Amino acid sequence: MNESNDISEIPFIRIFKKNGQLFLNKIKFLFKNESILNNKFEPLLEKKFISFPLKNDDAVINKVKDAIEGIIDFQIIFKKGIVNKQYKFKSIKEAIEGHVSDKYHPFIPRSYDIIGDIAILEFERNKGSFIEDISHFKGHVAKALCNINRNVKTVFEKTSDVKGSYRLRELSFLCGENKSLTRHKENDCVFEVDVKTTFFTPRLVFERKRIASMDFNLNENIMDLFAGVGPFSIQIVKKNRTNVFAFDINPNAYNLLINNINLNKLKGSIIPFNIDIKSLLNPSSELGASLKNKADRIIMNLPEKSIDFLDVACHLLKKSGGIIHNYQFSEKPNPVERSIENLKKNLGILNFKIQEIIESKIVKQFSPKVDLVVVDFLINRI
Ligand SMILES: C[S@@+](CC[C@H](N)C(=O)[O-])C[C@H]1O[C@@H](n2cnc3c(N)ncnc32)[C@H](O)[C@@H]1O
Repeated sequence: MNESNDISEIPFIRIFKKNGQLFLNKIKFLFKNESILNNKFEPLLEKKFISFPLKNDDAVINKVKDAIEGIIDFQIIFKKGIVNKQYKFKSIKEAIEGHVSDKYHPFIPRSYDIIGDIAILEFERNKGSFIEDISHFKGHVAKALCNINRNVKTVFEKTSDVKGSYRLRELSFLCGENKSLTRHKENDCVFEVDVKTTFFTPRLVFERKRIASMDFNLNENIMDLFAGVGPFSIQIVKKNRTNVFAFDINPNAYNLLINNINLNKLKGSIIPFNIDIKSLLNPSSELGASLKNKADRIIMNLPEKSIDFLDVACHLLKKSGGIIHNYQFSEKPNPVERSIENLKKNLGILNFKIQEIIESKIVKQFSPKVDLVVVDFLINRI
């Protein structure tokens, strides 16, 4: 590995310019598709010499030395590389090479979310805390992310879990344009999202496609109880002539939901409400009275505590029953069975029952011990 302590120096093989083509032919012939040269950097030219950047790996350097020893005069040197502007980095690790010491590599986030032109990184919070200069490292990772994904204009770091009734997390700015509003495309729809003031996760893209691709009856009444900026509601109504009543307690989510209704060409209709859906149970709520027993189908995407809102769902459901898509965080093992049991127990208290389970499955892992589970079911009175 790089013996020099200067992390910005990389190995080069320096040869006479006149031997340049011979060297390239030789390594092409000997190493075929194996990558020997570090194409991230430009070859360096100085007087009679040309220096080709090598992969910063002792095994690679030794192979090259063995291959040309006695054939071409050479010298291995360590120098600061000039980044090749045309080069497309394949990973964050590759992009930070030469800028950040190798000791930081285990702390590179394995995944990140991209919402519109904003990237959100998560560094393992306890990991790396012993490294003195972690903020400098985070800045390099953020710039590397912009480099490998040219559409990214802003990078934030997650600095808290999702919390509060609006389901928001704290974000700290790392690089690019310091803005939190963006436009995100998903399943042929476009959404304005403010990553700081509204909840949105791109990780439900397939789940929303699954729900929006179901068979809906013409003019079916759907209640999206926790609509956010509208990804479920809008994707359903984009494809189906249905009526969606979309609720959210967060005024920022509600305002963007209205924008998003206008941004997308929709077949059906969406009526947005900025309320706490519990208020629909209030005997003095006119809206609660007018929506009572109107829903054919209800979406309950508040996995932390959708169970606490089953009473609202039962209030809204048609007397003849209907369909519920319920999301829960459930502990392993057997998270799906646990979710179904939880539903059965709580619906029983309300004098309702699961008539038939249409589908039940893990949508994604939420944490090492907990999964996000969906249960689609027909519900009726006992
Ligand atoms: C997990 S997010 C889901 C948003 C959206 N369905 C999505 O897929 O992006 C839950 C949403 O429920 C809203 N919410 C939480 N409690 C609520 C309540 N009591 N009444 C109405 N909305 C609520 C939050 O503001 C948040 O936008």
